[in-house]
Amino acid sequence: MTEKHTTRITQYWHPIAEVGEITEQPQRFVLLGKALVAYRHADGIAVLNDVCIHRGAALSAGWIENGNLTCPFHGWQYDASGACVRIPALAAGAPIPRAARIPAYHVAEKYGIVWVALEDPVAPIPSYPQGEDTNPEYERFFVARLVWNTSAGRAVENSVDISHFPYVHPHILGDPEHPEVPHYDVHTYDEGIWYRTHREGYVPAGEQRPGGFTEYRHAFPFSMFLTNASEDGRISCLGVFYSPTGPKTTTSFRVIYRNFQPTLEREDEVMAIMHVLDQDRDVLETVRPEEIPVSLREELHVKVPDAASIAFRRWIETVDMLDLAPV
Ligand code: FES
Ligand SMILES: [Fe+2]
Repeated sequence: MTEKHTTRITQYWHPIAEVGEITEQPQRFVLLGKALVAYRHADGIAVLNDVCIHRGAALSAGWIENGNLTCPFHGWQYDASGACVRIPALAAGAPIPRAARIPAYHVAEKYGIVWVALEDPVAPIPSYPQGEDTNPEYERFFVARLVWNTSAGRAVENSVDISHFPYVHPHILGDPEHPEVPHYDVHTYDEGIWYRTHREGYVPAGEQRPGGFTEYRHAFPFSMFLTNASEDGRISCLGVFYSPTGPKTTTSFRVIYRNFQPTLEREDEVMAIMHVLDQDRDVLETVRPEEIPVSLREELHVKVPDAASIAFRRWIETVDMLDLAPV
């Protein structure tokens, strides 16, 4: 860490998987360039370093025996805390070296997603703005899990940038005839920033924009919440959680909570959302460098349209993004 850094990116919760993906069979996940092994055990989910301390074999290629993670190379066994509890080649009763352990990481389940912190976390898992996830009037809808060839920083920044709508999503989210962004105030809160605009969406000439508001909330580092609220009280809040798998790759999870039944069939709804996301991916994967710049002096910013992004980049300047080597 240098003087300007107050935290490391490893000190935040990051999503790695849908809860349903984790089974009793160990599997490999990658977070911040680090290989992890995850599996479900009697008391929950364990996430450990996917490198055996003995000779470096991938434990995700192993299996669970008597509740312990078994290395496929020489059969060493680890419990969920990462402590080695059995070395089969040792004579019965011989002590297990105290150094025989692998790092175990913080793990939590929230919104149907598995979250991991590689160090003691300095901030909570990002929260839905109005506690939609615990409100019984809201139902959860898992939209998609996507892998993109760009960084989590670039991807989340795009999710709170409205000035790309007329160009990337013409006649869906934006109007190419009216690309100017109205002034909006960026507010800070303890997890990041938020701002509100009129309801998002393309409004054909002669028609009136629906009432209500759209709120963009960026929970640092890589989560965002998009709330669409209509005047009649219908609210939909889409949580977008980007996992920084490597410096140039991100896996995202999208989870909607809403208090109404949409008119579209779910399949058609997902197709419409995927169409917009494909448009985002197509442009984002051309952006160079893939990593988000860690200094506000890089690239060019225009005050009003980039206000949310400028706030994010100011925050990034305080975080040590570490040397994210892909595995
Ligand atoms: S490498 Fe894992 S037991 Fe030897
Ligand atoms: Fe977009």
